[in-house]
Amino acid sequence: TAMGTVIRGGTVVTADLSYKADVLVKDGKIAAIGQGLTGDRVLDASGCLVMPGGIDPHTHLEMPFMGTYSADDFDSGTRAALAGGTTMVVDFALPSPGQGLLDALQMWDNKSGRAHCDYSFHMAVTWWGEQVFDEMQAVVDRGITSFKHFMAYKGALMVNDDELFASFRRVGDLGGIAMVHAENGDVVAELSARLLAEGNTGPEAHAFSRPPQVEGEATNRAIMVADIAGVPLYVVHVSCEDSHEAIRRARAAGKRVWGEPLIQHLTLDESEYFNADWDHAARRVMSPPFRNKIHQDSLWAGLQSGSLSVVATDHCAFTTAQKRTGIGDFTRIPNGTGGLEDRMPMLWTHGVATGRLTPNEFVAVTSTNIAKILGMYPRKGAVLVGSDADLVIWDPEAEKTITASSQQSAIDYNVFEGQRVKGLPRHVLTRGHVAVDGGTLDSREGHGEFVARESRGTVNRALSAWKELTAPRPVERSGIPASGV
Ligand code: URP
Ligand code: ZN
Ligand code: ZN
Ligand code: ZN
Repeated sequence: TAMGTVIRGGTVVTADLSYKADVLVKDGKIAAIGQGLTGDRVLDASGCLVMPGGIDPHTHLEMPFMGTYSADDFDSGTRAALAGGTTMVVDFALPSPGQGLLDALQMWDNKSGRAHCDYSFHMAVTWWGEQVFDEMQAVVDRGITSFKHFMAYKGALMVNDDELFASFRRVGDLGGIAMVHAENGDVVAELSARLLAEGNTGPEAHAFSRPPQVEGEATNRAIMVADIAGVPLYVVHVSCEDSHEAIRRARAAGKRVWGEPLIQHLTLDESEYFNADWDHAARRVMSPPFRNKIHQDSLWAGLQSGSLSVVATDHCAFTTAQKRTGIGDFTRIPNGTGGLEDRMPMLWTHGVATGRLTPNEFVAVTSTNIAKILGMYPRKGAVLVGSDADLVIWDPEAEKTITASSQQSAIDYNVFEGQRVKGLPRHVLTRGHVAVDGGTLDSREGHGEFVARESRGTVNRALSAWKELTAPRPVERSGIPASGV
């Protein structure tokens, strides 16, 4: 009814402020923030923090990949999101090589009809040609302003440097942002072949095939190519110091470059591959692989200093049966792990409860920074009058033990199995609908809507300087030497 829902007695926590206030929600939006608000429905937020709902900028729901489909679709995936306090996901529309962008977008439009929370898409550029160039304008016009490039998965999704540069220039001209999966795919293919030839067929060889250097090299390369193209760059799943260091240096030099660590790399390390049976290790095979503690510390430091901007999941879940297609050949283990339901509680437990991050920094990296970078702030990522009522009422004292038996995800295990977390959503609102009520999921299939995003319209610092310096300027010369002398 007209009165709306009031979230009463909590502390509003945003990326820059914490203060006591009630929040009134009407018609899917935040209608008022203040003291003593009334409504016909009251959600008790006493002892809780009222934060912008989490945004996961990196998911793969029902994605065709490595001969199969990722097991969580827009139904189970967005249920998992809401159950964990995430109210929006940004998934990747993935044209198969040769397929048009708009054709792929239609496929993702169809799948996303089941979403329980709002969503948007990034567009992947998996091949290059006139059709891709032309369709990029229409993709941007539909509110998809970020374009992802795979520098790995040779022979499948990988693009070469000439394609990368051409696409980066086009994205820059359209005012969008370029994204990269930064691993040197040629080196990975070479190392993989050698490991297999030497009889290293198990899941641990996956980690050996992708050392931090392949990520550091590709991150540096993408940064430099993006700088020449003048396009802002977003590096997905930054897992190590080598890549983080390149991003730090680029930012210090004035380049618009953002890094995205995953909750998995922040909290799980390479021992998962070595001190474990085949299934345990294979379930954790993803690219980049989990690293050692030194790299983990680097990622946490990056979130603290601001050199890394956001925390994602890269949720791309495969069942044990799917993982087992790689028995005898680690290169056939579908790459990917889950985490949608666990990102917020795990980051709170290992970040805020340990003193590594403030609650405001938690909001910044799980929601607000993402909304700003991707061009949807303050509709998303904010607690402001007029913003979408995507909210999480967070109980910092609530505890649980993560276990696959009670998760929303469709897979039969959880990479965080047995982890005790402290800090859980009590209520979660998706555009005003109370999808988690007192910890119980009550979400609706099809409630989620597509969120069109704005072009940033920004260029990187180097573009003007570079264009100036390299503008064709024929030099008048006399005394041209005779050739062949
Ligand atoms: O191993 C991973 N990360 N799988 C999902 C696809 C990707 O590379 O992001
Ligand atoms: Zn990737
Ligand atoms: Zn991914
Ligand atoms: Zn309802």
